[in-house]
Amino acid sequence: MIFEQRLHPAPVPSAIRDEALADPGFGKLFTDHMIVIDYDADQGGWHSASIGPREPIALDPAAAVLHYAQEIFEGMKVYKQADGSLALFRPERNAARLNASARRMAMPDLPEELFLEAVRKLVDIDRDWVPTIEGSSLYLRPFMFASEAFLGVRPARQYKFVVIASPAGAYFKGGAKPVRLWVSRDYVRAAPGGTGAAKTGGNYAASLVPQAEGIARGCDQVVFLDAVERRYVEELGGMNLFFVFADGRVVTPPLSGTILPGVTRDSLITLLREEGYSVSEEPYGIDDWRADATSGALSETFACGTAAVVTPVGTVMGPAGEFTIGGGETGSVTARMRELLLGIQLGTVADRHGWITRL
Ligand code: COI
Repeated sequence: MIFEQRLHPAPVPSAIRDEALADPGFGKLFTDHMIVIDYDADQGGWHSASIGPREPIALDPAAAVLHYAQEIFEGMKVYKQADGSLALFRPERNAARLNASARRMAMPDLPEELFLEAVRKLVDIDRDWVPTIEGSSLYLRPFMFASEAFLGVRPARQYKFVVIASPAGAYFKGGAKPVRLWVSRDYVRAAPGGTGAAKTGGNYAASLVPQAEGIARGCDQVVFLDAVERRYVEELGGMNLFFVFADGRVVTPPLSGTILPGVTRDSLITLLREEGYSVSEEPYGIDDWRADATSGALSETFACGTAAVVTPVGTVMGPAGEFTIGGGETGSVTARMRELLLGIQLGTVADRHGWITRL
């Protein structure tokens, strides 16, 4: 596919950009350009690819996404390597997951090569926006939504695939310091047969009320329990969880259909096994979590995701009160896994699995 290219007529001046890149925060700063590719079932599928200035998207007020939420997204990061080159981490996984989400939401597949080409083009044109301060990267947000103006409830016939980029520092204000979690009693994120394994906006919308409950209690993120028994720990509002035991076992909830199949989650399972830990993907109950943290059988818990990287969990406020894990400090396994993963992403640790794509 040919990409029409329009350079931004008035890009952010470099002095202002560089000042912003010194403290990017998360999700509030954006680069100069964006990718847009249109889909029309009646025009043979994907067509009209462009790279142009980042600008508002005109939508008909009847666009299906505004009514029935046919929308999916991805999150991935560009890392500046020690030699100044740029690299993506397992981008083919994001391309494949977008299509898995698309299938669940009755949306069209986007050819994986087209996804990767779009991402490469945006990074190439906005390469001066990759931040270099420690712990920072250029966060990419590819997304797809139903743009057809039609109010009947059925899969739309027109879509837009868009990629924007956002220079990013740590997701949590405290950086890599242990976070405090709130276990939601009244709300669930996803039920069996629902959309929990798809990266679709509705899952995140559903997390906002319980997330606000947690924030009101001084917590950083909400933990969801399974919808059937309200017993097993599933995931956070936007991250997967790992439980580390003092005897060297590591547990993470299984991909049973209600959990987002994180690229970071998958990578950490591999890295933990290589480090000699026995990792099992199995259900783990909230009562066990509390009892094991209290007895010391559980030594660490960490959250992980593209945005969160590896973030230690210090305290959990659950239905039966609050408990602390590993004295509320960052555990050694958590610290090691964070270092290892970031090392591979930044090119300072050997990439033995071919996870890095140089740009
Ligand atoms: C990511 O980690 O990239 C995500 O998509 C989760 C984000 C919404 C916090």
